[in-house]
Amino acid sequence: MLAEWLAPKAAALESRGLTRRLRARPSSEVLIDLASNDYLGLARDPRVVEAAVAAVREWGASATASRLVTGTTTLHAELESELALYAGQESGLVFSSGYLANLGAVTALGGPGTLLVSDEHVHASIVDACRLSRSRVEVVPHNDLEAITKALAERKEPHAVVLVESVYSVLGDAAPLDALSAVAIEHGAVLLVDEAHGLGVTGNGHGSVHAAGLAGQDHVIVTMTLSKSLASQGGVVLGPSVLREHLVNRARPFIFDTGLNPAACAAALAALRVLADDPSRPDAIHATAARLASVCGVDPSAGAVVSVPMPGPREAVQAAELCLENGVRVGSFRPPSVPDGISRLRLTAHAGLSPEDLDHACKVITTAIQEVS
Ligand SMILES: Cc1ncc(COP(=O)(O)O)c(C=O)c1O
Repeated sequence: MLAEWLAPKAAALESRGLTRRLRARPSSEVLIDLASNDYLGLARDPRVVEAAVAAVREWGASATASRLVTGTTTLHAELESELALYAGQESGLVFSSGYLANLGAVTALGGPGTLLVSDEHVHASIVDACRLSRSRVEVVPHNDLEAITKALAERKEPHAVVLVESVYSVLGDAAPLDALSAVAIEHGAVLLVDEAHGLGVTGNGHGSVHAAGLAGQDHVIVTMTLSKSLASQGGVVLGPSVLREHLVNRARPFIFDTGLNPAACAAALAALRVLADDPSRPDAIHATAARLASVCGVDPSAGAVVSVPMPGPREAVQAAELCLENGVRVGSFRPPSVPDGISRLRLTAHAGLSPEDLDHACKVITTAIQEVS
């Protein structure tokens, strides 16, 4: 029965070059990594690895229950306060993924009395959060302040939340945070900024909200994943204590989910401390991203992701395959991961890439793009 049901769906995807396939990677491979989200190169840093191992020895392999039962350890508390301090926020609440952090924050603020104004390029987790929220949702064109202002001004709902990313994951460009904040204040709205691609990268690592001087303001909420620069797993919502309290009581992805694994907490905490002690790492990301953008002939990225438009999904996959055959792992974006339907090569700049590796990667990538285009 499932075969009859699903096979035509699979065939439809295949015919459009959109089938996704899993490829299990071995623990050691000699590839130049321009595909993973380990922007700061900390996933195998001995300090991060040892912290995770020590946490497993001390706490065991599981958080043992949801956060409100036995799933909050002193590690969770430490991670929350250090993340909040680093980002300049009053408080933080850790979730077991960045996806769930967005789901938790948006659904706990949403409902019939709240308008959600969402940039068309926000991450799927925010899109799904909007769908689950029971709010009226206005999706506005990318970085369109006029459309946001209009949606806020014409609303009937008493509350509103504007949903943006500080650095957009597909386009790699930045949100105009100063102007967004001003519009939010003027119209009594809250601004939620997903800093998945800002933490560890922009604002000397502290993120774009911090860099814009908006951290700690009571109309601003920040969400982050711990799975990119912090080389671990998990997510966090940062903002005023009153928000944290509300989420503890109302955010279903927080309440009904097992707490973040202690090993992941410890790894994120160790990575955060490395980042705080070595502010040069974000600069290395920007330098690499600028070089990649320049050789590929695209606009510089505001963060680590360099997005190179390709003629179609098949070409994006073929170019990534060619790079792999030549020792360079890059990613590709295809629908539905690209809100504008344009398939792209996805290159992620990492701190710690040697100049020789970067030279080699640039050659391989430009050749692959020429060959398939
Ligand atoms: C902008 C953005 N938000 C949220 C997430 C989800 O984070 P996580 O992988 O921790 O669930 C991602 C990760 O892909 C992301 O890019």
